[in-house]
Amino acid sequence: MDHSRVPVLEALREFRRRGDVVFGPPGHKQGRGVDPRVADVVGMDVFRSDVLSLNGLDDRRQSQGVLSQAQDLMADAVGADRAFFSTCGSSLSVKTAMLAVAGPGEKLLLSRNAHKSVIAAVVVNGVEPIWVHPKFDAERHLAHPPEPDDVRRRLREHPDAKGMLLITPTDWGTCADIAGVARVCHEFDVPLIVDEAWGAHLPFHPGLPAWGMDAEADLVVTSVHKMGGAIEQSSVFHLQYDRVSPEALKQREDLLGTTSASSLVYATLDGWRRQMVEQGHELLDAALRRAERIRRAAAELPGLAPMGQEVVDAGLAAAFDPLKIVIDVRGLGISGMQAAEWLRAARHVDVGGSDTCRISASVTHADDDETEKVLLDALHALADEADDLERRPPVRLPAPPALELEQAMLPREAFFAPVEHVPAERAAGRIAAELISPYPPGVPVVAPGEVITDEVLDYLRSGVEHGVLIPDAADPSVRTLRVVART
Ligand SMILES: Cc1ncc(COP(=O)(O)O)c(C=O)c1O
Repeated sequence: MDHSRVPVLEALREFRRRGDVVFGPPGHKQGRGVDPRVADVVGMDVFRSDVLSLNGLDDRRQSQGVLSQAQDLMADAVGADRAFFSTCGSSLSVKTAMLAVAGPGEKLLLSRNAHKSVIAAVVVNGVEPIWVHPKFDAERHLAHPPEPDDVRRRLREHPDAKGMLLITPTDWGTCADIAGVARVCHEFDVPLIVDEAWGAHLPFHPGLPAWGMDAEADLVVTSVHKMGGAIEQSSVFHLQYDRVSPEALKQREDLLGTTSASSLVYATLDGWRRQMVEQGHELLDAALRRAERIRRAAAELPGLAPMGQEVVDAGLAAAFDPLKIVIDVRGLGISGMQAAEWLRAARHVDVGGSDTCRISASVTHADDDETEKVLLDALHALADEADDLERRPPVRLPAPPALELEQAMLPREAFFAPVEHVPAERAAGRIAAELISPYPPGVPVVAPGEVITDEVLDYLRSGVEHGVLIPDAADPSVRTLRVVART
């Protein structure tokens, strides 16, 4: 295929050249009505390129096939049979992918280290979750994706399960053995869905972990805005083989998706694909070298311990994305959250993620010598000044098995059940009716239907006292919990 073509961008350029006058949405009419104070901040071009797909990028009959051509080019670029763009982020794409494989009341294997969008899908879709627990790495206090044998065991216990959803890479760059899990799923003739929100760059360089389609997954969802170059909310479904019907996927996407897709998202997805096909190898090569330099330099700093390929080992991760600079800061006597807050306040450096033990910074094709220096200077300053940072009460991390809570009710039933709010001191033994997800990374510690324990409460309460945010809990202070009412 001709990857120099960019159907969406070309249609947008043509729309702007023709100067079409639109009497439909968006009401700002390509910026004619925009308040200059808004344009002053976000730029006029945002509005000029904000166009509907129908009677905008394409005509009413979609006779130019603008979007379908762009999607075909994306599929070709990454080695998928089909690709579909979504403008609603992977939070929605994950729900759609799950719905395309398992309907209400049907069983789906789910990796329990899931982003909250997966647990939300369990509630909204009404699927019965069969949890596959991740591998807890007690030394690092990290959950790595489950292994093929874990999946095989659960499929044997639940031969009526409709498929499996695997989350890889994790927020911390650790990856699953996708090929191994796909083989197990296919032995049972069920599809493997991969939530590869963090992996949009993986198809474009052989030095990166294997990406889902190459590793024989059936359906892969990526967020191109995370490690790639499209704007926020740009997500892509990739499909191969015949275990997931493209028709079911399209129709279920249509149930959930917007009818006013953003042309800005489509255009930047289209441009990213061209850029990666033409220059991806070279750009990612440079990014990989840069990440290695940063990791080596950070390892020299007192109190900082960057994670590297040593995490790829039996019982731990199957691969590691070297573009994730994940640094354990416990040696500084502070938490990752404190380090992240200090880096932003004192150095204007926003690291992407932080938890009790570490921070993470994503290096992408967009980094250059200047951003590399800014990051390293900031890490230097952090190591120098950490002794002066306030010592906060520590987060009491539970032993890994304590994070595997008993599921007493289906998440959907618990979420919609009559509820009451009980003080934390009286919540142990009660069934949660809400998601409780420290953010970031947004992986629920408690899902609806799970039985709350003292250890988990102690972890959450000590986390909040330390400064962890729990935005989805009814009471973000976790002084009270929303639980299923006793009848
Ligand atoms: C593993 C995983 N899946 C899905 C999502 C949701 O993606 P989006 O932000 O594109 O909606 C995230 C977001 O952080 C994520 O980490």
